[in-house]
Amino acid sequence: MGIRDHEAIRAILGRRSIRRFEEKPVEKEKIELLIECGSAAPSAANSRPCHFVVATDRPILNRLAEDHPYGKMLFEAPLAIIVCGNPEKNDFARRYWEEDCSAAMQNILVAAHAIGLDGVWLGVRHAEGCEEAIRKILPIPAHIAVLGIAALGYGKEKKDPHKGIEEGTLHVNGW
Ligand SMILES: Cc1cc2nc3c(=O)[nH]c(=O)nc-3n(C[C@H](O)[C@H](O)[C@H](O)COP(=O)(O)O)c2cc1C
Repeated sequence: MGIRDHEAIRAILGRRSIRRFEEKPVEKEKIELLIECGSAAPSAANSRPCHFVVATDRPILNRLAEDHPYGKMLFEAPLAIIVCGNPEKNDFARRYWEEDCSAAMQNILVAAHAIGLDGVWLGVRHAEGCEEAIRKILPIPAHIAVLGIAALGYGKEKKDPHKGIEEGTLHVNGW
């Protein structure tokens, strides 16, 4: 077995943004495993500021879809995991919650792909009014920040895995 055939490498390179989903719910056991994988991400000074809101109710998913400008696939996705951070937890959380929550989000997406699910990361923080709208729907306390939404489910489209290093992006022993 070559190094490229390793399961973790296949999951990382094989993860693609999938925006069409089957009408099939995601099993509770898988949802819990995804949250466990999100929680296992590295965290600055181990401050662990991440929180996860799981949405499986169709009316809630539809409201998220309505209020996210680029999140219409949530009308179809059976599962959304909203990754949040608590910047007030401590000083490290205040400085690094975005990095910590991004690592958690990526873990969730890679783990999902590894167990036969697909999904897409929906940014929330830089889409005008989006964070506040989502905060109201769920509802998320005012001091908690929303990093993004993982729209997840059994994918209805296939994409090729990633391959190679983007030209001009590798710099060895300095830029
Ligand atoms: C911070 C961030 C925000 C994103 N927001 C959205 C979004 O709102 N809607 C969407 O369809 N895709 C979104 N994406 C997915 C990107 O479009 C996607 O990752 C990119 O096109 C590369 O494709 P790949 O994920 O298949 O490698 C987002 C990705 C990141 C990292």
